[in-house]
Amino acid sequence: MTARKLAEGIHWVGALDFDRRIFDELIPLPDGTSYNSYLIQGTEKTALIDTVDPTKEEDLIVNLIKLGIEQIDYIVINHAEQDHAGSLPMVLEMYPRAQVVTNEKCRDLLVSLLQIPPECVRVIQEGETLPLGGRTLRFFMTPWTHWPETQLTFIEEDRILFPCDLFGYHAASSELYVTDEAEARRSAKRYYAEIMMPFRGSIKGYIGKVRALGPALIAPSHGPLHRNPAFILDAYEEWVSEDVKNVVVLPYISMHGSTRKMVEHLTDALIVRGVEVKPFNLSRTDIGDLASALVDAATIIIATPTVLFGPHPHVVHATYLTNMLKPKARYVSVIGSFGWGGKAVESIVKMLDHVKVEFLEPVVVKGMPDEAAFVALNRLADDITRKHKELGILK
Ligand code: FEO
Repeated sequence: MTARKLAEGIHWVGALDFDRRIFDELIPLPDGTSYNSYLIQGTEKTALIDTVDPTKEEDLIVNLIKLGIEQIDYIVINHAEQDHAGSLPMVLEMYPRAQVVTNEKCRDLLVSLLQIPPECVRVIQEGETLPLGGRTLRFFMTPWTHWPETQLTFIEEDRILFPCDLFGYHAASSELYVTDEAEARRSAKRYYAEIMMPFRGSIKGYIGKVRALGPALIAPSHGPLHRNPAFILDAYEEWVSEDVKNVVVLPYISMHGSTRKMVEHLTDALIVRGVEVKPFNLSRTDIGDLASALVDAATIIIATPTVLFGPHPHVVHATYLTNMLKPKARYVSVIGSFGWGGKAVESIVKMLDHVKVEFLEPVVVKGMPDEAAFVALNRLADDITRKHKELGILK
């Protein structure tokens, strides 16, 4: 994909990956992704900000060649993960006089992950500047967005912020800039859920810092660029806040129909009480959709049959992910059916040790749910309704 001009002397030189369908062998990419790399030319020096995934290094090279770039002085690495830093060895081979510019933690990761010689790296500190001639790069440390070494780069004169993963989203789009904010919000929320949500506490502190910079453009390293920075900053502000919504997320599996009957009954009982329900059949759920729903749901109900002695493995997977993603839900419960015994509830509760929630009384029945089971599910629906009213999210 050809280089695209953001301003005189500032170009997008990255790669669009329309075909990629999975990231980290875990995260589905329904819209592909992009690896955004940026070339910044001053009157005296030229800098490249981030590289691309090594599977697309040819795209980056072709873009640099087409622009006639004979010398790169600095390669700024905002984040050491391979989808952004993975082509660094090849860029260094092409431009051997270039200096890698990053923070100390990132340097150490570049050395261990990519075997970059440490002497190639110029280590920068919080707030440090790098003049290019008529343009100045300033660096800000933002650890845990989502690795410990992450940083932002800001061009002071053009007021362009390069936050790498932060504020980006997975999409390969022929549009350089966000054009449909509703669609961008859906994709960015999904990305936030999958990548950033566990670091909500750290990110909270960075939003004010970014607002204070007053960027005119936010140019992340995945997906289209934000010409309206307030749109993505407001969305992040909402997602990282303590506010939850009147929503129950209900991931479930049913093998022979008993747990399904319970899920359906509870869903109906919640709907009539005015609670929004988002059920996810884990045998076919896109985990990105599930993660996205977890961003602001007040309650999570996990529904599982018992397989041998514990929860169904698909439920184990979803519960493990939920625990890692650390959503801000306030309440959790478990429902399900068993044949002859087992410890499904105990296993699920134990797996959720990173999620700070109150556990509501579970509803677990032997075999097909009977009238007593439906009464118990109504009681759980009442408990959820009362809790949501106490939070002020249900009138
Ligand atoms: Fe897009 Fe954390 O890499």
